[in-house]
Amino acid sequence: MFSTRTPSDLAPNRLTLAEQAARAAGARLIDLTETNPTRVGLDYPGRIAAALAAPEALAYHPRPFGLPAARERVAAELAAAGAPVDPSRVILTASTSEAYAYLFKLLCDPGDDVLVPVPSYPLFEHLTRLELVAVRQYPLDFHGAWSIDAHAVEAAVTPRTRAILVVSPNNPTGSVVTRGDLASLAGLCASRGIALVGDEVFCDYLVDPRPDRARVLDQQDALTFSLGGLSKSAGLPQMKLGWIAAGGPAPLVEAALARLEIVCDTFLSVSTPVQCAAGALIEAGREVRAQILERVTTNLRGLQALAAAHPACSVLRVEGGWSAVVRVPATRTEESLVLDLLERDHVLAHPGYFFDFPHEAFVVVSLLPPPAEFREGAARLLARASA
Ligand SMILES: Cc1ncc(COP(=O)(O)O)c(C=O)c1O
Repeated sequence: MFSTRTPSDLAPNRLTLAEQAARAAGARLIDLTETNPTRVGLDYPGRIAAALAAPEALAYHPRPFGLPAARERVAAELAAAGAPVDPSRVILTASTSEAYAYLFKLLCDPGDDVLVPVPSYPLFEHLTRLELVAVRQYPLDFHGAWSIDAHAVEAAVTPRTRAILVVSPNNPTGSVVTRGDLASLAGLCASRGIALVGDEVFCDYLVDPRPDRARVLDQQDALTFSLGGLSKSAGLPQMKLGWIAAGGPAPLVEAALARLEIVCDTFLSVSTPVQCAAGALIEAGREVRAQILERVTTNLRGLQALAAAHPACSVLRVEGGWSAVVRVPATRTEESLVLDLLERDHVLAHPGYFFDFPHEAFVVVSLLPPPAEFREGAARLLARASA
């Protein structure tokens, strides 16, 4: 009866079952997988909620790409972050996930494929499958820092490849794409008629970036799309305001925008109140962003300091983003380690295989939890992994 867009196996994984059992038994867990900024004790300015009460929001003026004032505000924000773009090339969406869905509708027919990095964001599996798009993976190589193997990317391209996705800073590796890597991807895209999609939702959270980092909108030769949103940039996932900024050769951008307009006009999904509040949310969101950046930096430094006393474990270099990867001894499987950590130490963390690391053993932690809780959870993790 049902399509194959959703998975046939809906059974929860072993970690989820173990978490449910621990919570049902009354365990107080330290959650090192928490990535919801509204649940980690940040101080949200009261003017955020007040901004949603603007009287202009009582009138409905449907615009496929969003209200001009909100698009201009987002364009100004992008320019301030070093990615200047004309407001006419900014498209508002309800989220980055929706932005992906729109771009797949724009670029792909059923069975076409897109290239995604691994390790990376696990939601790609669902985002592509829901649009009947196939996924082909290209590896990120780690040698002290993560880099893209241009030959592996080229080898992964098929006649049906419609887009190459880059995530920078990447979740969970925390790596940023370099100018050289991005230029070679853009060259490949331009020569093969493929779009370059940059997920830059974490671009405001640079902790220790390489100096030669780059943004997809810097690339002039390929059709490019940069994705961002308030979910990460202002720690406001509940507002449901994201964006796509298009770049590249003008004829290609114009052709893409004309088609995207049909997609956006069909759904008109971004609420008027959030569009009217966009300027105020971006402005107030800076305070939240500053708190998140401080939180992420504090927790990362704390994790690195704790790990120094556990020579069997190491924290991979984090350039940006909200997560860290801990390499742990591969003397046991990641699954057995995270289950033990949950059941015996009451700490929840993600195994590397959730993110398709090429081999074991890695554990991924969110850098968002309150510092005291994070330190305690990290200490238990390192002790259990070293045991
Ligand atoms: C790399 C990456 N892209 C996109 C998103 C989702 O953003 P949004 O809430 O705007 O859909 C996430 C959320 O964790 C993410 O890690």
